[in-house]
Amino acid sequence: MLFQNEEEGRLVSPDFNNESDHETELTLRPKTLDEYIGQVKIKENLKIFIDAAVKRGEALDHVLLYGPPGLGKTTLAGVIANEMNVQIRITSGPAIEKPGDLAALLTNLNEGDILFIDEIHRLSRSVEEVLYPAMEDFSLDIIIGKGPSARSIRLDLPHFTLIGATTRAGQLTAPLRDRFGCVFRLELYTPEELGTIVRRSAGILGIAVDEEGAMEIASRSRGTPRIANRLLKRARDFAEVMGEGIITEKEARRALSRLEIDEYGLDSIDRRLLLTMIQNYNGGPVGLETIAAAIGEEAVTIEDVYEPYLMQIGFLSRTPRGRMVTNAAYRYFDLPVPGQQTLL
Ligand code: ADE
Repeated sequence: MLFQNEEEGRLVSPDFNNESDHETELTLRPKTLDEYIGQVKIKENLKIFIDAAVKRGEALDHVLLYGPPGLGKTTLAGVIANEMNVQIRITSGPAIEKPGDLAALLTNLNEGDILFIDEIHRLSRSVEEVLYPAMEDFSLDIIIGKGPSARSIRLDLPHFTLIGATTRAGQLTAPLRDRFGCVFRLELYTPEELGTIVRRSAGILGIAVDEEGAMEIASRSRGTPRIANRLLKRARDFAEVMGEGIITEKEARRALSRLEIDEYGLDSIDRRLLLTMIQNYNGGPVGLETIAAAIGEEAVTIEDVYEPYLMQIGFLSRTPRGRMVTNAAYRYFDLPVPGQQTLL
């Protein structure tokens, strides 16, 4: 089912929207650094850190991955586990409710294993406090009993690697951020990288797509592999039912226009955001909260999901006084650029 214009299942939102998408996402995930496309600098450095750790027979230092959703943070954590030849346990900040939950996870790890905590910025303070000595000294302080007879005992933990992922590194507390030995910021992918990902995914899923069809999908996927893979599957549906079963440029265009995704990968919410800023606030500067209230979206969603791409394509800029629409965005809407004479 498609809910194109609702946040939950927004077709261009990088969140999963149904089970079958989730299943194919798992089969599409690369297992090795060589198979992992894009994020070249991160891969180069990771390769060295992994080789060094393997050579020394040690666990990899703790890794923090941050950047917009859908760029492959969980995938990269899986790749690291595979390259290190260790087990990975996957959890998330909100799932670890009590210090005891974290203790249970940590005490079940083996030497060298990876604990992956998604949305690590959402850990509670009390859980974070337990995490500090675990990360630093591989020890766990637990209190047994209550009242005057309560006593604290220290448990040794296996040397593990924590991989934390977040869309918002700025929201991590400084003590937590400082305990990561490697910090990597994932960048939006180029259309060429996404084209390679689309062709790779099509190969795995047995979808017929030509070069131009793949590039058409890639260039409208907001720099995000998860979106590219999802659009590939929807384009296949259109090509199979309405076309010859092959995703050509024409088929891709038909699918994307039906899904109301334009040549830039923008959907109706992006357009509403930009138009609201232009029409109600003279293109800015305008505060994030004001925009959020005006278009009825959460400020964090705007910041994490919409803005990174709008900034990447040069339609929006962040200034100390608020967000501003750029001249390029005015031209996109065929509107006169403020302060510029129109030639008659
Ligand atoms: N699928 C999703 N992200 C990918 C990536 N970075 N490389 C290869 N396949 C992917």
